[in-house]
Amino acid sequence: MVNSVANHGYLPRNGLNISLPDLIVAFTAALNLDPAATTLVGNKALLSGNNVTFDLDNLNKHGILEHDGSLSRNDVYFGDNHSFNETIWTSVASHFNQSTISIATAAIARKERLQAAAAVNPAFSLSASDTQFSFIETALYLSIFGSVEDGNAVTEWVKIMFEQERLPFQEGFTTSEEVVTAAGILGLVAKLAAASA
Ligand code: HEM
Ligand SMILES: *[C@@H]1O[C@H](CO)[C@@H](O)[C@H](O)[C@H]1NC(C)=O
Ligand SMILES: *[C@@H]1O[C@H](CO)[C@@H](O)[C@H](O)[C@H]1NC(C)=O
Ligand SMILES: *[C@@H]1O[C@H](CO)[C@@H](O)[C@H](O)[C@H]1NC(C)=O
Ligand SMILES: *[C@@H]1O[C@H](CO)[C@@H](O)[C@H](O)[C@H]1NC(C)=O
Ligand SMILES: *[C@@H]1O[C@H](CO)[C@@H](O)[C@H](O)[C@H]1NC(C)=O
Repeated sequence: MVNSVANHGYLPRNGLNISLPDLIVAFTAALNLDPAATTLVGNKALLSGNNVTFDLDNLNKHGILEHDGSLSRNDVYFGDNHSFNETIWTSVASHFNQSTISIATAAIARKERLQAAAAVNPAFSLSASDTQFSFIETALYLSIFGSVEDGNAVTEWVKIMFEQERLPFQEGFTTSEEVVTAAGILGLVAKLAAASA
């Protein structure tokens, strides 16, 4: 999503020297994301840079935000923790066989990806913080492309973000009229965790 927002010019297109205020302006304009939610992730992102700004290319530093068991990237153990991996994404997206993605479907897709990653990676590791951010990432795509209460994200829009790194405006996506709150996202995390048990 950060790449997508940069690709639309809400963040510098060269991906360089991004501050927390830059992120807040960008995510408010593009997604109407609560500044508190942007700050939650943005403060971590700054640790990958110089604590005042970061470059998008810094975000793949393992153990800050970048973690094992991503939905569309390989684990750092296999060398490339950065590039979109079609094989991995195809296995995750195979769950998305309806026009919208429910909380239950998103929970299963995430859980099975984590299980598959753990099964093949002898160095697989997910800290408590990584686990929380992994749930937050799923909650984010469900709420931005669906509803922060019930998920049901539009499958086509989710696929466009992952596969083309752009916002699906042409396909009907619009910036939310209501603020997508941090509290709402954390509520969705709780529902995802319950659906994963
Ligand atoms: C301050 C803003 C944000 C920053 C700095 C950020 C950064 C990151 C980073 C570094 C990862 C990689 C984690 C990993 O899988 O190893 C990630 C994953 C992810 N982010 Fe963000 N993010 C931000 C906001 C958002 C927003 C608003 C969305 C909304 C859809 C989003 C959706 C996702 C998703 C779905 C993943 C999982 C990708 C995967 O597992 O392959 N992010 N984010
Ligand atoms: C980088 O961003 C910081 C904070 O926004 C700003 O003070 C600085 O001038 C920028 N540096 C460059 C080289 O753009
Ligand atoms: C940024 O802050 C973290 C945590 O306080 C610290 O470990 C790190 O060394 C700092 N990085 C830089 C480049 O100052
Ligand atoms: C993460 O992947 C990138 C891109 O392939 C690579 O440059 C980087 O070294 C990887 N990180 C680690 C810790 O191996
Ligand atoms: C994508 O991940 C698969 C499964 O781990 C791996 O076999 C493949 O080499 C990766 N593809 C690329 C281009 O790195
Ligand atoms: C959709 O995928 C689920 C697995 O997530 C599977 O159980 C179900 O049978 C699939 N439905 C269709 C219509 O292919």
